[in-house]
Amino acid sequence: MKEKIEALMAEVAALKANTRQDVEDARIRLLGKKGSITELFDEFRGVAPEMKREFGAKLNVLKNAAADRIAQLREEVENKAVSSAGGAANDLTMPGTPGELGSRHPVSIVRQEIVDIFRKFGYDVAEGPEIEDDWHVFEALNFPPEHPAREMQDTFFVSDGELVSEENGVKTYRNPLLLRTHTSSVQVRTMEKMPLPIRVICPGRVFRNEAISARAHCIFHQVEGLYIDEGVTFADMKQAILLFAREMFGPETQIRMRPSYFPFTEPSAEVDVSCNICGGKGCNICKGTGWLEILGCGMVDPNVLEASGIDSKKYSGFAFGMGIERIAMLKWQVKDLRNYFENDLRFLREFETVL
Ligand code: DAH
Repeated sequence: MKEKIEALMAEVAALKANTRQDVEDARIRLLGKKGSITELFDEFRGVAPEMKREFGAKLNVLKNAAADRIAQLREEVENKAVSSAGGAANDLTMPGTPGELGSRHPVSIVRQEIVDIFRKFGYDVAEGPEIEDDWHVFEALNFPPEHPAREMQDTFFVSDGELVSEENGVKTYRNPLLLRTHTSSVQVRTMEKMPLPIRVICPGRVFRNEAISARAHCIFHQVEGLYIDEGVTFADMKQAILLFAREMFGPETQIRMRPSYFPFTEPSAEVDVSCNICGGKGCNICKGTGWLEILGCGMVDPNVLEASGIDSKKYSGFAFGMGIERIAMLKWQVKDLRNYFENDLRFLREFETVL
């Protein structure tokens, strides 16, 4: 017994391990159910009583030494695995690398602000497709067939539409698909399907076949508004737009309306707000006039109501449309529209603190 204990003591002292598996093998070999140290404990039962004390103590020392050595080896092997996989990088107590936080795009910030203001006035948000048909973008909005906005120079066409006739090889199509040139198309979709009265705000992306410059882009964003009920008047429209302007540009803001023309409204107006930079005195932003143009509006033309199946004798309403980029440019005095589309981080980071 004595020799066996000594031999095992030497074996424990010389134990080596490279992998977790090595450590586990050693544990099973020595301390497992059939391990050599466990077997010695079985043998110990047969030891003469006068020797029990001495051997018992030795056996316990051996067992503890084996358990300690195995624990030590396990730790070494674990540490090796950690350092070979990148060392300190795997130290779970190290603080993490913070991910870079993005911020909201100025166009999103202004769109949300406009939507929030009209929500407070009881407007719902409506959306429509960006690829539209001629009916919703032009026809139902009272655009005469020869109206210049339908021309190739303005509109991106997607497909010819329905083939209606073919005579002597000449094909005639109707209702072509196109990229919507304004969000007024969502007015039509809303009037076609929503019950009256209607009070909606429709934000969205629009497309025009224009050369890109500081003041024009082929993609931009608009917000359309529409209010239809019995007895809606021009005065209601003026009040809604004044309240909006004051929420958006500050409580001192004044508005003025100039007569204008849109095929889908009669009468129509363009709305200016008093310049929020100089307070109306005249500066280089408002070009000395004290006023900034922000939107187009008008009373929905009876033809437009009827085209969507609404009785124009019973119902009336107003509509308005504004460019989101334009409002954002006025709000932050951005001079070049292209900034909004280039995703230059130096520009976008200027809006990090705006919520
Ligand atoms: N759709 C017009 C545009 O793109 C904007 C507009 C003007 C919308 C007057 C309206 C409106 O609803 O009543 O320039």
